[in-house]
Amino acid sequence: MLNEILTYLTAKSTKEARAMGHLYESISLIQREKRCHKFWLSHRTHCKNFIIQEMNKVETKNSVLILGSGPLHEIPIIDLASQFDRVDLVDVVHLKTIKNKYAHLKNVFFIEADITELEVEILRTKKIFNKIPSLLLNNHYSLVISANLLSQLPYHLKKYLENKANPKLTELELETFCYQVSADHYKYISQFSCPVLLITDLESHYYGPANDELIEIQKPYINFSLPEAQESWWWNVAPAPELSKEYSLKMKVSAFTLNIHLFNPENPTLI
Ligand SMILES: C[S@@+](CC[C@H](N)C(=O)[O-])C[C@H]1O[C@@H](n2cnc3c(N)ncnc32)[C@H](O)[C@@H]1O
Repeated sequence: MLNEILTYLTAKSTKEARAMGHLYESISLIQREKRCHKFWLSHRTHCKNFIIQEMNKVETKNSVLILGSGPLHEIPIIDLASQFDRVDLVDVVHLKTIKNKYAHLKNVFFIEADITELEVEILRTKKIFNKIPSLLLNNHYSLVISANLLSQLPYHLKKYLENKANPKLTELELETFCYQVSADHYKYISQFSCPVLLITDLESHYYGPANDELIEIQKPYINFSLPEAQESWWWNVAPAPELSKEYSLKMKVSAFTLNIHLFNPENPTLI
């Protein structure tokens, strides 16, 4: 615990990352993974295998962009770094421990950025603001990966606006805003002129403590249609008592490939 407090106090991070709770969340994500390691392993393996399978379809591997790379639990970073000339990792927080762990990979670059491009403005005005991001769109990547990020994007913004918006927002205004944030991420990643892998949770199932009784199903702020999933699996995110003694949480995660025709733009019939 003392270690985590020290990390929080001494971490280099943006004003927004602290104010929106990202720094706290990034530190706690690493601790949660340690506690739940054996329960998360199959989810992590599914993510890595899906990325490797799709990466192998890319013919010319110049550069790859990973959005929401965080602690790289779900990313086959060694494979990506050995296959692509350049690997760009984007997250709102890159902890020093993670940067140090992969410092030997000289073609891996840690880019600290808010992928929604909303946080500076929302922090300044305390008002709702939406836009379709454009970060790194012109970089001609060979592959882009949005890695378990989509459902997270509205989460911190909503919490911040719930407490700080001036004038106060209604629940309907907040929800409409959250749906727009997710839709704008999807529009953003769809604009890259290369194949794009989207891995995201689509359902949260809450079970009673004995893991037998389904208590509640929640869905993230996604109200646009997605293509057919290539693969889906269950992530045992929080077996009781991780979040609560009263319930466990499992998430249904799906993996999609957008712009599939761009795996081989020269000869689309080979796909
Ligand atoms: C569920 S974690 C994904 C973990 C990661 N894919 C891995 O392999 O370990 C979500 C990540 O999204 C990042 N994130 C959340 N909101 C963000 C934002 N607005 N901009 C950039 N990154 C964000 C978090 O910091 C966190 O690392």
